[in-house]
Amino acid sequence: MLQIDPDRLWQSLMDLAQIGATAKGGVRRLTLSDEDRLGRDLFVRWCGEAGMTVEVDGIGNIFGRRAGTDGDALPVAMGSHLDSQPSGGKFDGAYGVMAGLEVVRTLNDAGLRTRAPIEVAAWTNEEGSRFVPTMMGSGVYAGVYTLDYALAQTDVAGISVREALHGTGYAGAAQPHALGAYFEAHIEQGPVLEQSQTTIGVVLGALGQRWFDVAITGQDAHAGPTPMETRKDALLAAARLVIEVNRIATTFPDYARGTVGFLQVKPNSRNVVPGEVRMTVDMRNAKDGTLSAMAAELERCAATVAADCRVDIKLEQVVYFPPSEFAPDLVASVRASAQAHGYSHRDIVSGAAHDAVYMARIAPTAMVFVPCEGGISHNEFENARPEDLAAGCNVLLHAVLARAG
Ligand code: GLV
Ligand code: MN
Ligand code: MN
Repeated sequence: MLQIDPDRLWQSLMDLAQIGATAKGGVRRLTLSDEDRLGRDLFVRWCGEAGMTVEVDGIGNIFGRRAGTDGDALPVAMGSHLDSQPSGGKFDGAYGVMAGLEVVRTLNDAGLRTRAPIEVAAWTNEEGSRFVPTMMGSGVYAGVYTLDYALAQTDVAGISVREALHGTGYAGAAQPHALGAYFEAHIEQGPVLEQSQTTIGVVLGALGQRWFDVAITGQDAHAGPTPMETRKDALLAAARLVIEVNRIATTFPDYARGTVGFLQVKPNSRNVVPGEVRMTVDMRNAKDGTLSAMAAELERCAATVAADCRVDIKLEQVVYFPPSEFAPDLVASVRASAQAHGYSHRDIVSGAAHDAVYMARIAPTAMVFVPCEGGISHNEFENARPEDLAAGCNVLLHAVLARAG
């Protein structure tokens, strides 16, 4: 059976991880930063060296394409993202792109031409950290967001996606094209595969998500003379809301998750009662109805906290997508591919978002998971074993071949 080159895959991941490398061994490649640009440049160079043509669309998604023998066949695409969290790891996103590239390199070495063209995509801003919403590039591609909407979004410094994208030189003109299928390989980012000593996760779908921007307005006041009972302390309200988010996520069923990951306090001075807080809430669930109920409970808690703390709280939902299900025939082909290689495998639901979530709306889609050390991700210490990454890539190769012919 045709096999990918594990050392070449690992070396590509390590070379890519040099770009934006952090002291603790992680990666900081924020969307549309200089590091993101350099990562893109490297990927584009590698696509060229692998004989692929390269196209870039209006939101900066990059597509490397290897021609097939049938001019009418829709391309079979693989991919993921090259951007990272502020203190991210070497594998989140990078693995899916490098695995796609390794599949193409393997086909080149074997002199194999597929019937359908094969593409490797690097989607812009999957992380949603510097710019919201998450999965921006694949979202635009799938028609979830208009290009103008995405380009108008700004980071905390007020820089727009449009401005940052032009700064990188990756504002292209390619139009979306139909795809025959989409496959994404990714580290699990959770503990299930490692704990069950399983090599391959056959991903059935992903949790739905609702993200909120929260603005709390109280009143700046002196820390000494201002009596406790008249304060309008925005940070106290935020603290209570953080606890409510945690309570909601730990008491609701169906894989409920709740996170406050960003908090900005003003004026952030030790002897001033904080008058203003900006924070985020990330809620996830396997059932759309439960996800809505969690959001309703958050609204209710915000109203109570606002009244108790004499502050104003505004919740704005900035991301919503329901739980997703991947295409049963492609999922079955991932399972069959794992079986054919003799890799242990199990079905799994993704707690993380992936570009595959939006691609599933416009093409049959499936994902391949491999274990990561301690289930840790969105962390500089994120790690995965070369043999597991290679196994996932072999599964990807054969699932793609089954589809591309
Ligand atoms: C993507 O990284 C997510 O937040 O799930
Ligand atoms: Mn990712
Ligand atoms: Mn991520």
